[in-house]
Amino acid sequence: MTSYFEKLKALQQNAYAPYSNYQVAAILVMEDGNEYAGVNVENASFGGTICAERSAFVSAVSQAGHGKYKALHLLAGETMRFATPCGLCRQVIVELAESGFEIIAYNANGDSETYTIDELLPHAFSKENLRG
Ligand code: THU
Repeated sequence: MTSYFEKLKALQQNAYAPYSNYQVAAILVMEDGNEYAGVNVENASFGGTICAERSAFVSAVSQAGHGKYKALHLLAGETMRFATPCGLCRQVIVELAESGFEIIAYNANGDSETYTIDELLPHAFSKENLRG
């Protein structure tokens, strides 16, 4: 079976990153085992860029509706440094996923580090705040 790292490396080729040349791939795994892919898609108007992580969530919701999310596998660039989702993506993950959702970050060697969304965005502002 193909490893997530191998799948992410192949998926990185789909990234549209002509400005940063920093290709990011994300695979969102659902509780039911389905997987949704995302890559970063950049724009000449830089603020129009969407990250791989948000692409993956938007893809999942678009194809299957809002569901139960289990984990996100992430490969960014070609370095030994592990990348974690940016602040904006963390906020989107808090919106859609449950506490305990895991983010598995890989480096170019295929080593991985696992974080929960609770670790990455503690004390988050969320729908609970709007409920009062
Ligand atoms: N990027 C992601 O796709 N995910 C992240 O978590 C960080 C940054 C993208 C956005 C942009 O296309 C490029 O990486 C450089 O910031």
